[in-house]
Amino acid sequence: MLKNHLQELQQHDTPLYVYDLDLLRRTLRKAQAESEKYGYQVHYALKANANAPVLAEVKAHNFGADCVSGNEVRRAIENGFSPDHVVFAGVGKSDAEINYALDMDIFCFNCESSHELAVLHELAAAKGKTARIALRINPNVNANTHKYITTGLEENKFGINAWELPDVLAQLKELDSLQLTGIHFHIGSQITDLSSFRNLCTRVNEFQDWFQQHNVELEHINVGGGLGVDYYHPDQQPIPDFEAYFALFHQFLEVRPGQQVHFELGRSLVAQCGTLLSRVLYIKHGKTTSFAILDAGMTELIRPALYQSYHKIENLSSELPEEKYDVVGPICESSDCFGKAVLLPETNRGDLIAIRTAGAYGEVMTSQYNLRDKAQVVYLNK
Ligand code: LLP
Repeated sequence: MLKNHLQELQQHDTPLYVYDLDLLRRTLRKAQAESEKYGYQVHYALKANANAPVLAEVKAHNFGADCVSGNEVRRAIENGFSPDHVVFAGVGKSDAEINYALDMDIFCFNCESSHELAVLHELAAAKGKTARIALRINPNVNANTHKYITTGLEENKFGINAWELPDVLAQLKELDSLQLTGIHFHIGSQITDLSSFRNLCTRVNEFQDWFQQHNVELEHINVGGGLGVDYYHPDQQPIPDFEAYFALFHQFLEVRPGQQVHFELGRSLVAQCGTLLSRVLYIKHGKTTSFAILDAGMTELIRPALYQSYHKIENLSSELPEEKYDVVGPICESSDCFGKAVLLPETNRGDLIAIRTAGAYGEVMTSQYNLRDKAQVVYLNK
């Protein structure tokens, strides 16, 4: 696909984030159609990518917004998301962030500790408001993904543990500025083994029974996000299997009459539509390997350095016979490496290199380390 736009792309400076809005729209359309089959509601996790043109497409497909900071709540609302479709999670919401979200009357605070409940109650009471909350529960379900993006185990900092729930319910009886409306779960990200979600459903059903036994009615169940994408074959199945994903929840999640089911998808909606484009600055022949040194580095895409994650690398400019390269960036860190022993057509200075599947947790995680300039951005198929 990118090769069809080569002439246009060559006009741009690099590093450059390229977003294919056509693929984004097709992805959103599929997710929307599959979730609507069951009346499910999806809140898009802004943390994956919060660029205005991306948000405009997301909003146009009727998704709400899942936010983890006051600035994300603000970004969502400024980009047209209605506050009653905004949820706000996070283990460390500051008073200023909470106050702002209270002023905006957002749909729900996903609360992660008993201490947070006490503070939220106090801040809401001071404003004479009632905050709608969901308890984020740590279900102790293994997501079978990288340990840095596993969130649903008891060793993780996220959520309220099962054994704390009786105390939390008792506490909530006293906190009359909080209205318990739902329960929330999120076990991790880049989950490709759907059986993890099946295990989550089993746990959610158990928690639902527990709340019912305690005469607590829940208006909504939020099962979080986490559906993974294929980083190895971005062109084979660019749109994740939303059909199987939502069907699994339909099959295994027990929903009470009148209850809404919410999802918080990030990566699966936006990862494949983004590419980091870079130019080769230098080729360096070492003793055992050759280095292709790019003008993009871990400052533009930190995922390989932080999670040892794989991103497919392509040379868009060369069709020469293949050779092996360590593809590295210009940053003064040995971890600034996009891939080792990558087979690429013979690569030369000035070649355009595409680092694929960078639409989620790419641009949002950039840093100005080494006082780097921010990468440029271009949108295809506007
Ligand atoms: N809901 C909650 C409460 C979350 O913490 C997350 C992601 C999501 C939803 C969206 O998950 P998704 O559908 O995107 O998997 N920077 C890491 C990913 C961190 C994910 C954090 N939480 C990466 O580059 O792999």
